[in-house]
This record gives sequence, structure tokens and C-alpha cells, in this order.
Amino acid sequence: MSILFEPKPIGSLVLKNRFIKSSTAERMAGPDGEVTPLLIEFCEAIARGGAGCIFLGHAYVHPKGRANPKMTGLHDDRLIPGLRSLAEAVHRHGCRVFAQLNYGGSRIQKGITESVGPSVVENPSTGLMARELRSSEIWEIVEAFGKAAARTREAGLDGALIHGGHGYLVSLFNSRYANRRTDEWGGNEQNRFRFVDEVYRSIRKAVGPDYPVTIKLGIKDDVEDGLSIEEGADIARRLALAGIDAIEVSGGLLTKEAAAGRTNILSREEEAYFLPYAQAVRSKVGRFPLSLVGGLRSPRLMEEIITAGWTDFVSLARPFICEPDLVSKIQTGRWGSVSCTTCENCRLGFPDEPLRCRKDEK
Ligand SMILES: Cc1cc2nc3c(=O)[nH]c(=O)nc-3n(C[C@H](O)[C@H](O)[C@H](O)COP(=O)(O)O)c2cc1C
Repeated sequence: MSILFEPKPIGSLVLKNRFIKSSTAERMAGPDGEVTPLLIEFCEAIARGGAGCIFLGHAYVHPKGRANPKMTGLHDDRLIPGLRSLAEAVHRHGCRVFAQLNYGGSRIQKGITESVGPSVVENPSTGLMARELRSSEIWEIVEAFGKAAARTREAGLDGALIHGGHGYLVSLFNSRYANRRTDEWGGNEQNRFRFVDEVYRSIRKAVGPDYPVTIKLGIKDDVEDGLSIEEGADIARRLALAGIDAIEVSGGLLTKEAAAGRTNILSREEEAYFLPYAQAVRSKVGRFPLSLVGGLRSPRLMEEIITAGWTDFVSLARPFICEPDLVSKIQTGRWGSVSCTTCENCRLGFPDEPLRCRKDEK
């Protein structure tokens, strides 16, 4: 049996195989962030198709942290029954499901909420200037992450995934470029780390020691004077020491041109573009559950990367939008590249239309 199909734990939870559906904003929630039948259907198809775990698209932990319309919410107890139905649908197929906890910061759709961040700095991904958060507001956000995680647990989801990449609030605090504070939240590596550390602690306090708490972590910023690979890997090391259960390795602040998902991955050499980040993290954390995301397309390469020990799981995002049943296909012998051509058309229709594969649309 391929290592891709060997079970592996994340904290107290065992995933039946190494395939994780990485988060993709589904644009399927109701007006107040409620789970809809469409969102359940989307997730259940991936669960039925054999994935070991689904990381849901980012969800806002506080009304002021909403990044887009039709984004799922985790900010209110009234959302729990919908989340519970989603968890039950996924569990029917032996698949696990984590909520992705996020606060938009300055990576938001203009006008939907106020653009905020650690410092008055423009977000290279949106062009939006941030208003500097007051310390009291920072503590309110930290607390909101904890409360959202408690709802995640209450709803029967299997774990919480902090969004710590891609230019959203957590990654802004981690970044030397975006965080120019001189108080206890910035000024040196230890202080820049404080926000993600407090977010993690708030979540852990809310969910207890046995509930899986993980992070999608931006290891390197895509801007000059931003987070370096060494700094990013050191944040991973600190989080592992603090007790986080797994890290999904990704990019940090992004420019408009370079989204986290690169386009046109047509050869094996172009795949797994964040592998050097995973290698840097591995050298700091030793044996510790890691997943790698970004351009993984060939099952043989995924197998090689896990066998070499660089990662324990593989996270795929766009391929699952294109082929929800791709894990079953691989399991039954389809070892060629996945069908997703990384055309990026799945981003079309934003913000109003629900996420779907538009590979054949020009
Ligand atoms: C339409 C779309 C929506 C995305 N939404 C999210 C999100 O909500 N949270 C997140 O962490 N990453 C998000 N991503 C990034 C993916 O999770 C992933 O990191 C990236 O697409 C690279 O992986 P892939 O090559 O397997 O697609 C999104 C990507 C796409 C294409």
C-alpha cells in the first residue's frame, strides 16, 4: 500500500489517509455567515470522494473580521446547528473536517469591514491601507478566536485551523514588513510572535488539551523586507513548542501578482513550490505533523515527498474543486496527474457566485 493511504494522527485524531482538502473560500454561506445546503453538498462530495480531511474555507471569528460576502461565520452561537449538519454529512464518509478561523485585517474586499492591521501599512495584495489596531481591540480579537474555536468544537467539527498566512491579520502581525509597532505587539521577533501565540493560547484554553488545533502558516512574505524563511520556520518552531498539533506550510504576505496558488503548473518541476519552506520548517521542528500545500499535482511526487520525510500530509485545494473524487481515483489506480490544469478560473465569479471549477470556461 502506498504511504499516501496509511493512516496518521494529528494530535488525538487519526486521519485515514494523507490527503487534506486545503481551504478554499466557498462563497456559499448565508447573509449572516450561516452554513447552507450548497456548502454541505460541496463538502460531502469531497468526503465521499475519499479525502482524509477537509479544511473548510476561511471563516470569520468576529463580525469586524469578515473579509468577503458569502463567507462562513463562526462569530455567533446561532451558527452552531448549521456547522453540526455539515460535520455530520462529512463524517458519514469517514472523513474529518476542520474550520479555518480567520480575521480579515487589511486583506478584505474594500468596504465590507474596516481595513485594520498592526500598523498603518498598505497590504500588497489588496492595496488597502490598514488602520492601526489599539491594544484593547487586539485583545478582543484574541478572545474572538477562542470563542469561535469553542463553537467549532461544540458543533462536532474535528479541529480548528488558524489562518496564519496570505496577508490576513495573523500573518500581518508575524511580518516585519506589516508590523512596525514598538509596543509589546511588535519591534522584535518575540513581540511580533505574541499575537499568533495569544491567539493559539486563547483557542487552547477554550477547547481544552485534547482538541486538535492547527495552523496554516505563511513561512515567507512575497515582499521586500518581509518575513524571511528563517523567521517563518522559527515561528513554526515556537508554535510546535507551545503545543499546536500540526502546521500546514504555505506563503505569507502576497502581492497582487503572486497569489498563494500559482498558475499553469504544467510540469513536475513547477509542482510543490513551497517545498523549500517545508524543508526549512522540518529542520526546526523535527518529527512533528506537517502538511504541504501549493501546486501538488502528481501522486508519485506526493508519495516521494512524504517518504523523504519533508511532510506527513499533502494538502490540495484547486484539484479538489475540479475533481471531488480524486482520492478514490488515485486509490483505484489513476496515478497520472490530477485533472486540474491550474487555470485559476475557479477564482472567477467572485464575490457573488459560489465556488466551482470553470476549467472549460474562457
Ligand atoms: C478560489 C480559491 C479560494 C481560496 N481560499 C482560501 C481560503 O479560504 N483559505 C486559505 O487558507 N487558502 C485559500 N486558498 C489557497 C489554497 O488553500 C491553496 O493554498 C492554494 O490554492 C495552493 O494550493 P493548490 O495549488 O493545491 O490549489 C484559496 C485558493 C483558491 C484558488
